[in-house]
Amino acid sequence: MKSAVILISGRGSNLRALLDAKLDLDIRCVVSNRPDAPGLEIAHTQKIKCKIIDHRQYASRELFDAALANSIDRFAPDYVILAGFLRIFTSTFVLHYHQRMINIHPSLLPAFTGLDTHTRALAAGVKIHGCTVHFVTPDLDGGPIIIQAAVPVLPNDTKDSLAQRVLTEEHKIYPKAISWLISDRIHMHGDQVLIKNTHPNATNLISPWN
Ligand code: GRF
Repeated sequence: MKSAVILISGRGSNLRALLDAKLDLDIRCVVSNRPDAPGLEIAHTQKIKCKIIDHRQYASRELFDAALANSIDRFAPDYVILAGFLRIFTSTFVLHYHQRMINIHPSLLPAFTGLDTHTRALAAGVKIHGCTVHFVTPDLDGGPIIIQAAVPVLPNDTKDSLAQRVLTEEHKIYPKAISWLISDRIHMHGDQVLIKNTHPNATNLISPWN
């Protein structure tokens, strides 16, 4: 069975979705950089080992990343899964987990990298928004894309209503991407991700639709 360490900073709804999906994955530890992250409670109730590495205790990003890598590597995981981990890593850290670290980002990358994606999507007037699971590279939110889900942006959307619609899709695509990863269905072709044995079922997503 493949193994993983999951990194969180907050609410942990994606962590919960991964646990609910009952993946064939040994989750060896959940690490939070915030002692008060509500997601830790989700891990506790499922009897998953938790560790807090508070970034405020470290004088530099390099020292924090070194401590984090040290903790992760003690569990010798196959994968590092970022589930709402709100820290930017040094290149050294990212390269250490080359093609073994994945992230979920709340936009249709490469649009809206970084923070406040829903507010910026609304301000830009896009009609379709969504979420992306991708491998992590030193290029922030720029790594190879594994899967995306799109949602319409509706006329009366607020940042919160749009975020909720996107989050519902996040909870579907993250377990799916990880199930592909752990069953060796993901292959790299240059910088692109190929998924083995997918059956194209092409449909259009048009927003607004009438
Ligand atoms: C999600 O929107 C995820 O895409 C982003 O951070 C948020 C984390 O939410 N990276 P949660 O902690 O999983 O509920």
